[in-house]
This record gives sequence, structure tokens and C-alpha cells, in this order.
Amino acid sequence: MQNCQEIAAGLFYLGGNDRRIALFESAYPVPRGVSYNSYLLKDEKNVLLDTVDNAVSDLFFENLTFALGSDTLDYVIVQHMEPDHSATFARLVERYPDVTVVTSLKAAQMLKNYFGFAGKTRIVKEGDTLSVGRRTLTFVAAPMVHWPEVIFTYVPEDGILFSADAFGTFGALSGNVFADWAGFEREYLDDARRYYFNIVGKYGAQVQSVLKKAAGLNISLVCPLHGPVWREDFGKYLQKYLTWSAYEPEERSVAVFYASVYGHTQNAAEIVASAVAARGVRVKVYDVSVTHTSELLAEAFRASHVVFASTTYNNGIFVSMENFLNDLKAHAFQNRAYAVVENGSWAPQAGALMDGVLSSMKNMRRIGEKTTVLSAVGADSAQALRELGAAIAADVKAE
Ligand code: FEO
Repeated sequence: MQNCQEIAAGLFYLGGNDRRIALFESAYPVPRGVSYNSYLLKDEKNVLLDTVDNAVSDLFFENLTFALGSDTLDYVIVQHMEPDHSATFARLVERYPDVTVVTSLKAAQMLKNYFGFAGKTRIVKEGDTLSVGRRTLTFVAAPMVHWPEVIFTYVPEDGILFSADAFGTFGALSGNVFADWAGFEREYLDDARRYYFNIVGKYGAQVQSVLKKAAGLNISLVCPLHGPVWREDFGKYLQKYLTWSAYEPEERSVAVFYASVYGHTQNAAEIVASAVAARGVRVKVYDVSVTHTSELLAEAFRASHVVFASTTYNNGIFVSMENFLNDLKAHAFQNRAYAVVENGSWAPQAGALMDGVLSSMKNMRRIGEKTTVLSAVGADSAQALRELGAAIAADVKAE
């Protein structure tokens, strides 16, 4: 049965939720599910903005049929070709053979590659417009947010911005389509941060570029392809995006990441954390072997100071820590103060190797020398770890 909502005059939310998916993009756990959003804008011409993932296709077509009523579908705007939004495209054009596809040149090529589609298409680029009656849609190029073909769609008459993946989040919707209804900060902010850094974190410059364009628009409604729609307090979320995409820390705090086999490196990490906390600085500790990398990544970007403690393993960095560091580098982690703690029973190596990875990132500043633990924390290394924690806390407070 259809379950669509009219979220503004003539604008229908047609999306659905998947709460059974284990890994979004086969990579990211989504224990609170994910929504795939699609919108129908009704005017003299009726316009669909993106389709949905196969997981919610039945509901989507029921919603579309209901929202259209006896009207026809004139346009489908393909803003983003990733299959979580385009998977049902082929079925859509089969059902509505007269529909005109409006999309970017790159997306048109992808439609051909994915579906062999070469039907009625109108290619649009930055600044192009499409009159659909009372409203004239304007297109905004948003390359690499999150793929190169992405366009946003702006409706100046109503101040509506259809923002593709931008401003989206993991987490299913619970009937409350609007962020202010849903209690965004409590219910979604952690997922939104994890979504941002894992999905588009690498492309900060491109996000900044599109945010500059958005700053010039009069916006009263933001409709992303995942998560709730924004009609109030969007400025607060926009500020998060400005901070995140500039690779600035969200808060002055410390994140301590450790990889420990028998608990001694954990002990070292927690001694550092206690010394930080004792000085009134917020600190959080993570075991990189049990916390998913997508969460570690988001927490590293959130903090201003990061500590990495790893045992030496196979003459290298412990595997879960090495994987995490590589993921940070792949997502352009930068602009942080860091410290390194290593453990080794006969040939400690992890510290120098971790420092090599971290110092290869942009604008990274190490606090102190690496601190070495030999097998278990002893009196000397405990003192060194406490001094490291004190130095980190002082640095957090100093800036
Ligand atoms: Fe939600 Fe880049 O797809």
C-alpha cells in the first residue's frame, strides 16, 4: 500500500526504508537502517527527482502511482547515478515510456552503461533551467558530491533545494520526514557525521565549492536522497558541513585509538586517556579491533587531537590499526595534532611505521616523541604515558 506524504504544496515524498540491510554499499553497517528518498513535484508538468534502491522499489512505484493519480509523468531528473538511487530507473522508463530524462552529460553516459538507455534525454549543466509551469527549475553542478555526474536541482519560487547525497544521513525515517520532527541532533547527527566522512569525506574541496553556490540561494526546504528533509534550522547543519568539509575539528577533544592483543597496549592507551581527562579535557577511547572503521573514521575527524597506540605485529603495525590508518589516509584525514604509542616485546616497530603514515598526511603535527612500552606498562613507561597525556591536554587547552 502506498505510504507517500505531501511535504509541501505539490511536493510528494515517495521514498522508503530498508532496516534489514547489513552493510550499505557493502561497506558500512547501518544498524538504524537507511532511507532511499525520491520526490515528485507536481505542476503543469510533473517531475520525479530520482528513483530508489531495489530494496524499496515496490513501495516506490505504489507511491508514484498514487501521487500521480490520473496525471502523467513528464520528466524524471536523474541527479545521481549510484544504484541506490538509479536501480529502478529501467523499470520506471518502461512504465512511463514518454517521460523525458533530464540529467547531466556524464549521467547520460552512465545511463547507457548501466541500462543501455538511449531514450528521450535532455542534458543540463550548471545554470540551465527547466520550466514546468509555475516553477522554473535551475540546475547546479555538484561534481564529486558524491560521484562526478551529480547535479542538484533548485526551485527558486519555493526555495526548495534537492541536494542529492549532500545533507543525507544513514538511519531510516520513522514517519517523521522532517529533521525538526525527528529530533535530528539526538537521532541522526552521529549517523550523519559517519555518512559524511565515509561517503564524501575525501572530497572536501568539492563540497566547499557547492556550499558556496548554495550560500547564494534562498532556501526554505532541503530534500536529500537519504534521511530527513530540512525545513527548520538548516543553518546549524550547514555549519557542520562547512566545518567537516574544511577538515576542521568539530570540537576540541581527544580520541584515543588502540590495537591491543593481550591488554597491555589497551592499558597504555587508557593511562594516556586518564591523564587527559584528569585535566578536564574531553577524551574517548576506541578499540580499533572491535569498532567498525567507519565509526573510527568519523570520530577521528570529530576530534582535534588523536592518539594511536598499537602493538607490533609481524614486524609491522597491528592489522586492524594498519587498516584504520590506511582508511584515514584514503579519506584525506588532515589538519590534526597526533601522538603515537607503540608496544613490542622484542623489536618495537609500530610507532615509527604509524608515524610514517600519519606524517604523510596534510598538516599533521606530532605531540612529543613516540612512547614505547616493552611488553607491559612499567613504572617508567607509565610515567611517560602520563606525561604524554598531560602534554596533549595542555595542547588542547592552548589553542
Ligand atoms: Fe546515496 Fe552516492 O549514493
